[in-house]
Order: sequence, then C-alpha cells, then structure tokens
Amino acid sequence: MSTAAAVELEVVGTRGLALVPAPVQRLLSAGPGGWAGHVERHGPLPHLPGRSEAIRAVVAESGLTGRGGAGFPTAAKLAAVAAGRGGAVVVANGTEGEPASAKDKVLLSRNPHLVLDGVLVAMEAVNAEEALVAVARDDDRSHTCLEAALRERRREARRIRLARVPDRFVAGEESALVHWLSGGEAKPTFKPPRPFERGVNGRPTLVQNVETLANLALVARHGAGWFREIGLEEEPT
Ligand SMILES: Cc1cc2nc3c(=O)[nH]c(=O)nc-3n(C[C@H](O)[C@H](O)[C@H](O)COP(=O)(O)O)c2cc1C
Repeated sequence: MSTAAAVELEVVGTRGLALVPAPVQRLLSAGPGGWAGHVERHGPLPHLPGRSEAIRAVVAESGLTGRGGAGFPTAAKLAAVAAGRGGAVVVANGTEGEPASAKDKVLLSRNPHLVLDGVLVAMEAVNAEEALVAVARDDDRSHTCLEAALRERRREARRIRLARVPDRFVAGEESALVHWLSGGEAKPTFKPPRPFERGVNGRPTLVQNVETLANLALVARHGAGWFREIGLEEEPT
C-alpha cells in the first residue's frame, strides 16, 4: 500500500473524521449502519410535498454551487427545470470519469442515503416524478451501496432508478449522459437544446452532481445560514 493510501485510511478509518475539514465531515459523517444510522446522524428530512418554491428559495439563499466542475449556481438550474413543460426528470451524476478522482465514489459508498435525500429534495424542487442515479459501469462499489440504500427505502425506490454508463470521461458530461439515458450514445453535443430544456426522453432534466445533491439534502435540513457558516461569501462550501 502506498503512503498516501495509508494516510487516507488512517484519517477516515482509525481516527474517525476529527482531522478532516468541516465541509468533508458534513458530507461523510454517516452514523453507524444503513438507514437507521443515517437518520440517527442527520435526523429525518423535513416534509417536502408542496414545498417546491420554498426549497428553491432556500437553495438560492444558501448560494450552493455545483460540485461537478463548473460551479454553476444550483438555484438557477432548479428554476430553469421547474419552469419547463412536461414532467421533469432528475439525474444524479455520480459517473466521476475524471482520472484519479474519487470524491464522488467515496461519498456514494460512505453516505448513499444523503445523496438519495438530495435526489428527493431536487425532485420536489423541480416537480419531478422520476429520478435516475448514474454511476460508471465499472464502479461496482457505488452501485452496490446505492442498491442497498434503495432497498432500505422502499417507498422512494419506486421513483428512483440506478443506471450504469460507459466508463469514459466524456460520458459524465451532461448532454452525453442524457443521450445515454434516452437510449443513445454517451457522446456530448455541447449545443442546444440543453438538458434543462429537452433532456431524458425529451423532458426537462436536472443534471446535478451527487456531491451537490448531498449538500442540497443538508441545506434542506439545516437551512441557508447553517450552510453559509463555512466557505466564502460568494462561494459557501
Ligand atoms: C468532459 C466532461 C466530463 C464531465 N464529467 C462529469 C462527471 O464525471 N461528473 C459530474 O458530476 N459532472 C461532470 N461534468 C459536468 C456535467 O456536464 C454537469 O455540468 C454536472 O454534472 C452538473 O452538476 P452540478 O451543477 O451539480 O455540478 C463533465 C463535463 C465535461 C465537459
């Protein structure tokens, strides 16, 4: 085992999360064992039905930005998809094809319930009936952890499906992902219509990185002020 890997295991495994920066603690502290541990650590999600506008307002106030690379304001995307015509779809992007990157894989295997909470909050915010959580085809660990988490939440499992996408860097780009999930090739188009206008099967689609969604779940629970306690005024963490 390399020194870097040994240090990482020591921080996450042996010493708990005490040495890990606060934003990472927020996302990775899961509580012991599955659903029960998740609720013990984070408490239940607030009541969501009928709160679409209120959720979008608190996300705007929180200043949450996307964690998939571009840092786009999440509230603007929620508003654009919510304004679309036809039943919206939420896609959780957990493909993480960037070489040597593992932040999303760690999150999905350690705290899948927080990501699923974020998916539910996003669905309510954009009035979606359906969501897909996309992981790379070779990422068995994330897939297994998500499957186990969904088995524990049977009610929501009906509306959330898992999808496996080709192990290619470009497959994680949102238009490529949307094509693949609509039965096409996982190739980007980089041109309009963008997924928020016409995405999965032609429906308005919110594509959001899984870390963004985990943060969304925390914002829904603790509010905008809590979220803004860490990070910069213009870019809270
Ligand atoms: C070549 C390429 C690869 C990308 N790969 C990923 C990826 O693996 N995961 C991801 O979340 N976003 C990826 N993105 C960004 C997505 O297109 C999209 O902006 C993102 O999923 C939106 O989520 P966010 O707003 O929560 O960041 C990639 C973009 C490009 C151009």
